[in-house]
This record gives sequence, structure tokens and C-alpha cells, in this order.
Amino acid sequence: MTRDEIIASAATREMQTYNRLDLVAERGEGPWIIDMDGTRYLDLYGGHAVALLGHAPPRVADAIAIQARDLLFYSNAVHVPSRARATERLTRIAPWPDAQVLFLNSGAEANETALKMARKATQRERVVAFHGGFHGRTLGALACCGMPKYRAPARAWVDPSENILFGAFNGDVDGIDETCAAVLVEPIQSMGGMHVMTETFARALRARCDETGALLIFDEVQTAPARTGHWFAGDRWGLCPDLITTAKALAAGFPAGAVLARGSVAATVNPGDQGTTFGGGPVACAAIDATIAELEDIDAPARARAIEKTIRAGLPDHDVFGWGALLGIRAPAVAVLRKLREEHRVLAGSCPGDPTVMRLFPPLNTSDDDLAHGLDALRSALP
Ligand SMILES: Cc1ncc(COP(=O)(O)O)c(C=O)c1O
Repeated sequence: MTRDEIIASAATREMQTYNRLDLVAERGEGPWIIDMDGTRYLDLYGGHAVALLGHAPPRVADAIAIQARDLLFYSNAVHVPSRARATERLTRIAPWPDAQVLFLNSGAEANETALKMARKATQRERVVAFHGGFHGRTLGALACCGMPKYRAPARAWVDPSENILFGAFNGDVDGIDETCAAVLVEPIQSMGGMHVMTETFARALRARCDETGALLIFDEVQTAPARTGHWFAGDRWGLCPDLITTAKALAAGFPAGAVLARGSVAATVNPGDQGTTFGGGPVACAAIDATIAELEDIDAPARARAIEKTIRAGLPDHDVFGWGALLGIRAPAVAVLRKLREEHRVLAGSCPGDPTVMRLFPPLNTSDDDLAHGLDALRSALP
């Protein structure tokens, strides 16, 4: 198909869920994405916070291809070697020595599963979530979404719910009590406005959950593994939640999600409590195994911290916030993103919860030269 035919097909034959850029992404090379017409874009949008290892990372692509030829699929009814390798790698970097994992397909599914686990483990129903939070687009995840824009379509099903309480992010934690099964929170509310969790709030949540028996779930779909400069966000303070959900960069672009839990929570899970056809499949697990192996080899947390330092130093006159390779910049996002794309061929992200914030998700293999190029473009596009 020609470039024009591809765009026309999307306009007439696909449901109109997305506002797409005039970009037909045909290939990727590290942090670069290449349009079918040959135009090269520096992707500081990181493929929607997924391409932490850049585009088409060779080690992950090879692992996928080899696994697909060996065994494309078999279900969770049998053991598969790549699942065991992914399990060992992921539980080794998890914050608890007795961590266990359950593999799923996406971030929303991981969050819903973590909520189910917390309800079962505590025998309680209520969940505390936060204004400005985003946890995915399935109904259970939406019920905990503190962004009215996303919640609206599901309101008749999820509102009002006496079982979902919304607190103020970085605010007080008094709403958490002995009736609560779980507290679901993002270390950085990325969609909601790039609000960064303070250490004080994190510690207050941990303490309140300990007092009340509620389980603390960190939604690290966007922040883990390694993106914030630590394998998991709580590592920054030596603080462990009880469950962690992750997806996006977990398999470098192959669809995969996971719930990680401390041993005592994982011990409450029994056969039949949760299931998925594709989650934990051989190819997804080969991709997770290769992704984490590569992240370990490049010392991904350190590289994420170095990228943050370079970007902050390169934009001394701008308000830059966030951690590692997940950064916000205070800016009129629509105009700046258009200028970056059209005049400099650089991609960055908007922030659905705040039009005065733009977001950067630079791949960790963005070279210093490419970062310098991106910073030149940003300095020129920012007001
Ligand atoms: C923090 C957070 N949680 C959950 C999700 C949902 O993930 P998925 O789109 O894989 O279902 C997202 C997606 O952007 C997210 O940013």
C-alpha cells in the first residue's frame, strides 16, 4: 500500500479512536523512527513510554524471532523455559526477596488483577485511589481513575461507588482505614499532570497501610522497570509497596504486563483466582527476559539518571520535573509539540491532564549526540 492509501484506510476502515499524526512509522533504529517517506524523527516520546530500549532493539527482536520459531504459543497449562527465565529475572530485581510474579498482557489488566488479589488477601472491598490518577481503560481500572475525562464514559457503571474513595495525591492519608483492601497509586501521575510523589507522602501511605492492614499497590505501568532511575520507584527511598504492576516497557514493545507481589500476598493466590490465555506466553516471556537482561547490561537505572541530568542541564531556563527518563516540562504543549515535529523532526508527548505540560520519555540508548540534538530543538521550540 502507498503512504496515502494507508492513511485513507485508517480514516475510513478503522474506528476513529485516535487522533493520529501525519506519520507512517515504517522502521525504527534506536531512538529514531523513520516515516515511509524517509523522514527521520528523533523519538523523545519513546513510542508512548514503551521504547525504553529504543526501537526494534536487536537483542529483544532476536529473542522474539528465535522463540517464535521454537514455540510460538502454548498456554499456562504447561511450563515453558522462557517464562522461567523471565520469572527469575523479574523477581530478582523486585524489591522483596520473596517476590512472586503473575504475567498478564497490559497495564490495565495488571491493575485489575492486583486489585482482585488485594481484595482476596484482605477480605475487604474498598480501594483508595487518587485525584489525577490514571490506571487504564477497562472498567475496573477506570473505576479507580481520578481523571474525570477518562472516567466519564463508564460513569453509570463505576459512579457512585462506595467502594472507591479518592484522596488528594501528596495530601493526607486519613481516608485509608480498616475497611480498605488497597491503596492504588502511581509514583508519578504521568497522564494526570506529571505530579511526582513526595517521599513524605510515600512514607505516610506506607505507615497508614501498615496501621490499617490495607495493601499498598504501586502502579508502575509507566515507571518500571528502571525508567525513573531505579528498578522500581520505591527503591529511591528503600520503600516497598505490597504489590507492583508494570507493563509498557517491560518487554520493550512486545505486549506484556505483570503483577509483582511480596511473598505473603502472593501466598493468598490459588489456582483459578486469575487466568489469561496469552499472558505469560513463550514469546512475551522471551521478550521480557531479553529486555531485562539488556537493561541490566547497560545499567539502565544509572543511564536513566544520567539522561535526566543532561536534560535538566540543557534546559536551565525551563521548569523540568520528573525522574530519570520520565520528565515533564512546563510549556504550552500543543504549540511546542507541533513546532518540534514540523520544524525539527523531534517527537515528544502532551499530557492529557494538563495542557501546560509536555512530557519526554527518551529511550535509554539515545546517544549523547542525539540528546544534544533534541535539546537544541527543545531550546528553539520552547517559548
Ligand atoms: C500509570 C498507568 N497505568 C495503567 C495504564 C494502562 O496501561 P495499558 O494501556 O497497557 O492498559 C497506563 C497507560 O498509559 C498508565 O500510564
